[in-house]
Amino acid sequence: MTVDPQLLNAAAVDYVNDILQMEGVALQDIANAVGTPTYAYSAASLRSQYQLLYSALGALPHRLHYAVKANSTLAVLKLFADLGAGFDIVSGGELSRVLAIGGDPAHVVFSGVGKTVAEIDFALKTGIECFNVESASELARISQRAELLGKVAPIALRINPNVDPKTHPYISTGLKENKFGILQEAALPLYQQAAADPNLNVRGVACHIGSQIHDPEPLFDALEQLLALVDELSGHGISLTDIDLGGGFGVTYEAEPAFDIEAWGEQISKTLCDRGLHLSIEPGRFLTANAGVLLTRVEYLKPAVLESGSDETVDSKNFAVVDAAMNDLLRPSLYQSWHGILPATTKTHGDPLCWDIVGPICESGDWLAKDRMLSIQEGDLLAILSAGAYGSTLSSNYNTRNRAAEVLVSGDAYKVVRRRETLQDQLSTEIS
Ligand code: LLP
Repeated sequence: MTVDPQLLNAAAVDYVNDILQMEGVALQDIANAVGTPTYAYSAASLRSQYQLLYSALGALPHRLHYAVKANSTLAVLKLFADLGAGFDIVSGGELSRVLAIGGDPAHVVFSGVGKTVAEIDFALKTGIECFNVESASELARISQRAELLGKVAPIALRINPNVDPKTHPYISTGLKENKFGILQEAALPLYQQAAADPNLNVRGVACHIGSQIHDPEPLFDALEQLLALVDELSGHGISLTDIDLGGGFGVTYEAEPAFDIEAWGEQISKTLCDRGLHLSIEPGRFLTANAGVLLTRVEYLKPAVLESGSDETVDSKNFAVVDAAMNDLLRPSLYQSWHGILPATTKTHGDPLCWDIVGPICESGDWLAKDRMLSIQEGDLLAILSAGAYGSTLSSNYNTRNRAAEVLVSGDAYKVVRRRETLQDQLSTEIS
């Protein structure tokens, strides 16, 4: 069977003697031992993506705050913490995960439009680095809670710069019509209010305009706006020390050009080098997407029905029903996103056919890939590529399905870092 080399370029897997491997481990060995569906992540790929992004910013004082929502598995968080990452969180739950792996709260920034009183109190008591504040009401609430707890809350305002990141509308966050951030026009009076508030320590300015961005121009536009605001504030006697440019760096799923992280880093360095600002970025997908695959087995083949007397297919498709579903990997159903599919072995069973890869869930939206030329049989193992970001974190128990197991591969070994959920786990929170 011939395999599209582009797929292998992007993903952290490769064929060795016909067998699909992640680092030195055959994916079929993982599936045989752990079962399916199972997420597998390559530690080497996670590390190399981190280093690539970190070094793109050269000598500029900076920190990567890994966006926990992309993949919040403890072993993944620990790996990034060991590399020196801080964390971008959007809930008290994510803060608990960071603390569970011994992450330093002093390197945690807290984004999100709906921080509850309990979450704000938790973050204040823990001593996080910064609240990225998304509204006037939130600013007032953080001030009140800080006063009550006898703390001073470090804050940045998250600015909505109204720039178009040119991405899927569901993951665009920096346009006026999006719920995120504070419009630039409203920022000055809020900064003045915050600067005069003894319960608040005004540190910086933040923005995050969207996800899976390929054109760096909107990111640069947003930066220019933030710097104009920094200058305006400085004219009013408010001097900021920190700038947070968010995440959003796009990756290759199918044939999208890779985000040119080096060119982006050079441009950012040039723009910020004389500014004396400490830079944060909040990458999620760029660090984890292509480091992960979802392993799934073909349960049933449902070949197309042929009209009698004809060899043409009529209103019917070839369906391969696999044991992973939209509850395991929601991205195709939710964003019509494209993920590569590779068989665990290139030893084939005859000519390829065009298949829709679908899950067992009772919804026609439960598909993982459409119209793929594959040569497959029942029982075959498939790897769904680029599943390391927003895969397991978007999973659910829909249809009372247990959440998948997860393994971390490192060299010739792998470790189960999340056991498969059991029905007992699911039922234990309920009474009848
Ligand atoms: N910072 C903030 C405040 C964010 O809201 C996000 C993502 C990030 C950083 C990280 O963005 P990244 O570097 O991963 O693009 N579920 C969608 C993606 C949602 C992104 C939400 N915010 C997907 O599967 O495509």
